[in-house]
Amino acid sequence: MRAAYINKYGDNTVVQVGELPVPTIGDNDVLVQVKAAGVNPLDIRIRDGKLKQVLPYKFPLMLGNDFAGVVVAVGSRVKSVRVGDEVYARTDTMRIGSFADYIAIHQDSVSQKPHNLSMNEAASLPLVALTAWQILVEKAHVQKGQKVLIHGGAGGVGSIAIQLAEYLGTFVATTASAADSDTVKKYGADQVIDYRTEDFSTILSDYDVVLDTRGGETLQKSLTVLKPGGQVISVNGTPDADMADEMQLGALLKLVFTAMSFRTNQKAKKLGVKYSFFFMKPSGAQLAKLTKLFESQKLRPVVDKVYPLESVKDALAYSESGKAKGKIVIRM
Ligand SMILES: NC(=O)c1ccc[n+]([C@@H]2O[C@H](COP(=O)([O-])OP(=O)(O)OC[C@H]3O[C@@H](n4cnc5c(N)ncnc54)[C@H](OP(=O)(O)O)[C@@H]3O)[C@@H](O)[C@H]2O)c1
Repeated sequence: MRAAYINKYGDNTVVQVGELPVPTIGDNDVLVQVKAAGVNPLDIRIRDGKLKQVLPYKFPLMLGNDFAGVVVAVGSRVKSVRVGDEVYARTDTMRIGSFADYIAIHQDSVSQKPHNLSMNEAASLPLVALTAWQILVEKAHVQKGQKVLIHGGAGGVGSIAIQLAEYLGTFVATTASAADSDTVKKYGADQVIDYRTEDFSTILSDYDVVLDTRGGETLQKSLTVLKPGGQVISVNGTPDADMADEMQLGALLKLVFTAMSFRTNQKAKKLGVKYSFFFMKPSGAQLAKLTKLFESQKLRPVVDKVYPLESVKDALAYSESGKAKGKIVIRM
């Protein structure tokens, strides 16, 4: 089958498109013919080798962390899907590789694809929609009437997180360029801060939850816009001890992450707020809940550019530019 893969970590020059064997499936696995795959900044981090201690993959390593496609084979214990079903999913964390004609995945990671969406649209969703769901619904339990700040509203995560926060009945503030102000308002943002010319931390206060997609100074300042008891959940900040436990990374990495997040945790403690790092997980069950929201058009996909597999390097370069509006998709 055709696949985009790497044999060593590095920049775009290490990415190859070529022939690799079709993955084999176990009793609980599903084999999916991939029709389209989402491109995520995570693909770049994995390609660069920045996550090799946390995610120790083997080479050749196929790239790609989410997809939509058609089930072509199922293992003997698979109950939830059948051959011919149209599905979408975030790949199993240690079994990535959706920039390929076929992918094997555990049945629990897969959901039926929203019937009203194209394969390209559905492929744009799993990783970012699950990230938004797991943070806002599962972790922060945001409630109607609360105030939520979402950084990077025009990006892949932001474009879905704003819609979900709005659907949950919260007041939503977001940071974006002035040029994207109308777009993020259409997603449901109530207040837009131009991150290039304004300092959100001098404008916003008393927030319940911040979903931080930027890290660094944005994360530090985010702690100051919370009400007492509020929380910043970052997908791009310093990993913490809880993450090391959750991912079973061992005592050494736990110590390293504790040290890395020490300053942020101390600052949060002083302010009476909470900081946590978050790494999303595959979940077919949560994706099935999101499917209903997409089918009832409470949430809508936002696809920016679509590339053929042969142009995977261009797709990755566009993602790396940090300029994507919504999602980038690779069609097979
Ligand atoms: N830990 C996890 O589980 C997890 C899950 C999902 C994503 N992530 C991480 O979250 C980050 C965001 O992901 P994404 O898919 O949303 O990325 P993305 O789509 O590449 O984000 C691009 C968008 O970010 C905007 N942007 C850039 N700098 C900004 C700033 N300082 N303030 C506000 N907006 C800014 C850009 O707007 P302009 O063009 O106007 O600059 C662009 O619209 C990435 O680092 C990704 O790796 C982590």
